[in-house]
Amino acid sequence: MQGLHDVLQPAGPAAAHIATLWWLTLAICAAVFIAILVAFLIALVRAPRADAATPPDLAPLGSAEPRTRLVVSIAVACSIVGLLLLLAGSIAADRALARMPEDDALHIQVTGHQWWWDVIYDDPQPSRRFQTANEIHIPVGRPVLLSLQSGDVIHSFWVPNLAGKKDLIPGHILTLRLQADKAGTYRGQCAEFCGLQHAFMGFEVIAESPQAFAAWSDAQREPAHAPSDPGTTRGHDLFLTGTCMMCHAIAGTPAGARAGPDLTHVASRKWLAAGAVPNDPEHLAAWIRDPGQFKPGAQMPPHAVPKDELDALVAYLETLR
Ligand code: CUA
Repeated sequence: MQGLHDVLQPAGPAAAHIATLWWLTLAICAAVFIAILVAFLIALVRAPRADAATPPDLAPLGSAEPRTRLVVSIAVACSIVGLLLLLAGSIAADRALARMPEDDALHIQVTGHQWWWDVIYDDPQPSRRFQTANEIHIPVGRPVLLSLQSGDVIHSFWVPNLAGKKDLIPGHILTLRLQADKAGTYRGQCAEFCGLQHAFMGFEVIAESPQAFAAWSDAQREPAHAPSDPGTTRGHDLFLTGTCMMCHAIAGTPAGARAGPDLTHVASRKWLAAGAVPNDPEHLAAWIRDPGQFKPGAQMPPHAVPKDELDALVAYLETLR
């Protein structure tokens, strides 16, 4: 996946608050580090040469000269001020995140699975809800309220350019607020070890103009078009009579299973397998034949289908734009 993945290039208010806190933490910790190095160097330069015959001076601090006591007191005071500054910065960032607006927010449900992301766009009108996977489009400038949950183990939703991490806990629904102020493609990643393919549990957040987002969501709401020629009709029939429909859904067909990603518009997505495999006909065919060659441990089993059947299946899936 090629999207931006950088905490230090915030593209929205939530990430900006976190980046500010990060720079404050870096500045304070760097100052402490430099002060300690300087004190250490001074001590090295000024230390009297130890004479093997003379035992080192191990006098307790109480009996030390007043200047040493003064220096130690200043160091303790500086440490307390530094810690208080970090605390204040942390509370300020936390409050700013909690105050992010929710008016007119776009509601999206994200469910983590081993090892992919199920995405449902909510709408007060049930007929306007739609489902997709591993690719989240959002309009620039509009708050987004994500409801996060898990279908199996603990995962963590993280798009560094847009927001901090939020864990997905089985049996709980947690919310995350974010907003993109700049259009772009931002790479997200599961940030909690969740099994063999944790590293290949990526996703993309595509922030686009409100017009482009409206066009995309209208297209996603459409059910799949019926196949138009013999090749794709054969693939459609193979999908619905084989094992594919036991795990996947395609709106507009009898396939409605939810064990795997929704495939209604699978060909419109850039990646397969949560960012592990580019989405083109060759990779799609190879993925169907043996998902384990790309993602060992993936829940999708291998399918030893004859070449002509595989071609028909791929031809049909490629129509799902
Ligand atoms: Cu899901 Cu790591």
